[in-house]
Amino acid sequence: MNIEEIKKKLADEIDAADKTEKIEAARVNFLGKKGHITSALAGLKNVTGDEKRTLGQAVNALKREAEALFSEKLAELRNLEERALIDAAPVYDLSIPSGEKAGSLHPITLVSRECEAIFSSMGFTVEEYSEITDDYNCFEALNIPKDHPARDMQDTYYLENGQLLKTHTSAAQNTIMRKYGKNLEAGLPIRAIFPGRCFRNEATDACHENTFFQMEGVMIDRDISISNLIYFMKTMLSEVFERDVKVRLRPGFFPFVEPGFELDISCAICGGEGCPSCKNSGWLELCPCGMIHPNVLTAGGIDPEKYTGFAFGLGLTRLAMMKFGIKDIRDFNSGKLANLTQFVH
Ligand code: PHE
Repeated sequence: MNIEEIKKKLADEIDAADKTEKIEAARVNFLGKKGHITSALAGLKNVTGDEKRTLGQAVNALKREAEALFSEKLAELRNLEERALIDAAPVYDLSIPSGEKAGSLHPITLVSRECEAIFSSMGFTVEEYSEITDDYNCFEALNIPKDHPARDMQDTYYLENGQLLKTHTSAAQNTIMRKYGKNLEAGLPIRAIFPGRCFRNEATDACHENTFFQMEGVMIDRDISISNLIYFMKTMLSEVFERDVKVRLRPGFFPFVEPGFELDISCAICGGEGCPSCKNSGWLELCPCGMIHPNVLTAGGIDPEKYTGFAFGLGLTRLAMMKFGIKDIRDFNSGKLANLTQFVH
């Protein structure tokens, strides 16, 4: 093929290439090891003198021209292909209101945030703690030694390394005491709440779940008494239910409090008259609580001779059921959006 023929063929192939792969193939055809232009350059060794010079210049010029044409066409085709991809992709304009209902907060999140806000306003810090913990924090540090019958009520899921999923938010008590205990000497009380997911080996029904939420609260200082406990619980619950709730304490046993109580609130449904929801008693059990046992304070590095405190374990899931009138506890983990999305604030 002479130069003119190569030139013509080059123009045709570049013209015909409508995809990047085709232009790549054409480039190999002309500039590759056995390509037309490469062969023409190799053919120069067969000519001599003036002819070699003119031909040499012409082939080299053609080579440069071909390189320029190929990269120009390649860029052009790449552009076209990108455009085509963009045009084919679905269009998302994030600034356009969707017209769909926006997502909503889970009812547990709603009550949890509400309680957090109320307790924060009373000077409580909101703590974080993991869902996986160990035997010490979940039981031993809470005055529940191995083989204590109280463990029967709180069987849970154990990991192969001996760790476990916490059965109650009380598991965070020791960590909270260690975190803030030194402030007591400086006259700063410990006031902390800790909302968290808890797990128990439980057969599920409308009132029992293996996964549920509690909110732990502790207050430790000099001279903390049961009156402080009652005051804080009553204030908090009145705010949550947006009315003045009556509370009463009954004795309750938990190894980590002494004395221990079950705190009941007057039934919101019948106003305390007695109805099926409160089993005709007029009261609903809501929040186990008590004065922190000296052994638990000691385990947390706090001197029980100097300081006292109260702790409570508010059933957040139960609170959400009462507040929103949710009858089946299993709804919370069900993923049934029709049920869970109606409490948007
Ligand atoms: N952790 C206890 C439970 O889940 C509740 C509790 C907390 C009781 C704090 C007393 C004080 O059963």
